[in-house]
Amino acid sequence: MSGKRQIKIAPSILASDFARLGEEVRSLDKAGADYIHIDVMDGHFVPNITIGPDLVKALRPHTSKTFDVHLMISPVDLYIDAFARAGANIISFHPEAGAHPHRTVQAIRAAGAKPGLVLNPGTPLEALDPLIGDIDLVLVMSVNPGFGGQSFIESQLARIASIRKRIDATGRDIELEVDGGINFDTAPRAIAAGADVLVAGTATFKGGETAYARNIATLRGDA
Ligand code: DX5
Ligand code: ZN
Repeated sequence: MSGKRQIKIAPSILASDFARLGEEVRSLDKAGADYIHIDVMDGHFVPNITIGPDLVKALRPHTSKTFDVHLMISPVDLYIDAFARAGANIISFHPEAGAHPHRTVQAIRAAGAKPGLVLNPGTPLEALDPLIGDIDLVLVMSVNPGFGGQSFIESQLARIASIRKRIDATGRDIELEVDGGINFDTAPRAIAAGADVLVAGTATFKGGETAYARNIATLRGDA
């Protein structure tokens, strides 16, 4: 990898005002968000329930930015078409959520979305090996999935660096996204370790709507 990587910020709407979601998405678009990160939780794979495909569909007309849909659900395959039809551009899933992760990758691709693989803090990096040739994004969890507002798990920095090496060794265009506890302190360290895309819920929304643009620029390292 040569040159300076272009860093993208993916605000997680989990931290937004759910009663004003359409407006929030429009504000994030205007504030310079690269992706809109949508956390889908089922109360079964993770202990929280959030968003379904109908809500994704309702938000779609509010922005043309990439919808980065993070599925924390089990089973996964049953819902891929619904999320793709609703307007998901990237669909990421956890390999623990089903018996056949490669089939899930194929199903996401067939539905017209980009497949991403999510690695929990406790998932061995080897889970990546059989799939790295077929995915467009690796999402490294720097918290355990389920809730916003948790603290960044420091041990994930070394894993980000080692995934960066694995990605670069493929020569493929695979984004490395980091999710959980990203703030003004942890963002530069995640970038230094090799991240291309940073998910940020709490840190994007802090200070209210007038602060979104500044928060996003600071997280990206532009401010
Ligand atoms: C956690 C979610 C994250 C979360 C990030 O399960 O995947 O996307 O919303 O929230 P913050 O940035 O507040 O840690
Ligand atoms: Zn997420």
